[in-house]
Amino acid sequence: MKDPIKGFSKLSKAAKLEWLVNNNFDHPEAARDIFTTYWHADAALQQRHDEFIENTISNYYMPYGVAPNFKINGKLYTIPMAIEESSVVAAAAKSAGFWMDRGGFTAEVLSTEKIGHVHFMYEGDATPFFEDFDALEKELRAATAELVANMEARGGGISQITVVDATDRLENYYQLEVIFETCDSMGANFINSNLEEMAKSLEQFAAQHPKLSGDKLEVVMRILSNYTPKCLVRASVSCPVEELASEGVSAEEFARKFKRAVDIANAEPYRATTHNKGIMNGIDAVIIATGNDFRAVEAACHTHASRSGSYKSLTGCSVENGIFTFWIEIPLSLGVVGGLTKLHPLVVRSLEMLGKPNAEELMGIVAVSGLAQNFAALRALVTTGIQKGHMKMHLMNILTQLEATPEEKIQVANFFKDKVPHHREVVNYFCALRGVPVPKVEK
Ligand code: MEV
Repeated sequence: MKDPIKGFSKLSKAAKLEWLVNNNFDHPEAARDIFTTYWHADAALQQRHDEFIENTISNYYMPYGVAPNFKINGKLYTIPMAIEESSVVAAAAKSAGFWMDRGGFTAEVLSTEKIGHVHFMYEGDATPFFEDFDALEKELRAATAELVANMEARGGGISQITVVDATDRLENYYQLEVIFETCDSMGANFINSNLEEMAKSLEQFAAQHPKLSGDKLEVVMRILSNYTPKCLVRASVSCPVEELASEGVSAEEFARKFKRAVDIANAEPYRATTHNKGIMNGIDAVIIATGNDFRAVEAACHTHASRSGSYKSLTGCSVENGIFTFWIEIPLSLGVVGGLTKLHPLVVRSLEMLGKPNAEELMGIVAVSGLAQNFAALRALVTTGIQKGHMKMHLMNILTQLEATPEEKIQVANFFKDKVPHHREVVNYFCALRGVPVPKVEK
């Protein structure tokens, strides 16, 4: 077993790297080479990345692609996507082109509020929190007045405060539930700062109230919720069924099977998980490219998908009176100010590429990206299957692994132009081309 190291975070970057390569790798030189190869040549830019997190020793590259031709509410966008999965950007671009010819996407923000809680226990009669709520609220608002002043000037602030009796779920458990409007910021720091002030004020209120006791109150946590059902966006596409003929499948059959595919995702959580994963391919890629928090968005979307009690599709589909409609409705808490938005040069460019959207416009763009991705996946699944497109995009990865030269890549790609490039067949063809034996399959 390795020896633990004390005070690692206090070492210089060079010392951290030395310790790391010498204690964790069979070939320290080779490991050091790879980690340092990924350092940026511009030392100031590298330092900025180093400072995003603790113990940075290198950068982790992800492809940054763009999907053009997204018509959303009549406006044309080129959408930036940071993602490693080979077929996602191609699928987005294909969907964008398909719907561009059919009127484009519509996006509408339904609500923009976020929620946070002071989770507390009270061992006794908690009625005064409810009966004297007006007095409590006055104190909570006074305690946070300074913190919210700036946000209020931008049109946001604290919309609502309530005390929630949650003792039916857990003995002695209550909440201060606070609704926030955070305008163009995701608002996590703003919300958490306010909740921390409110918790102190709540403790004082209990300690000073004649019918409450400070000793019976225990504040357990003060934290925003990443579930944001009051921060909802809807995006949709619609066209006459007859405009849907696809990949040799008649328009009516396509519409029927497509709707069935969504019905199946609503009926079967195994399928819903994969269906929604495909949606998140589109969503996460834009979230990362725009410097937002993809873990928060993932968590919110999956909670939303389970809101009925079982895990279902995030998209819906109807075929009525000859009209095909396909939509998504999801919670998206996003920011275009704060966080990485001004710090990461690629995030700055992503937002510029999108025309410097406000948070609401970005919500629409991200929802459209998820919808487009789901459309592309279901379109392929109910017609040709996904492997054709998927493996075509993956072909270059296989050839890179085989250390193919650029000329060999072109030759192999040409051969598989109209075939599904299954891994084994690519290896066989490549080896024949090079005149080398086919390697044995590793067990
Ligand atoms: C692959 O990353 C995503 C899909 O599996 C989504 C789906 O099945 O709907 C293609």
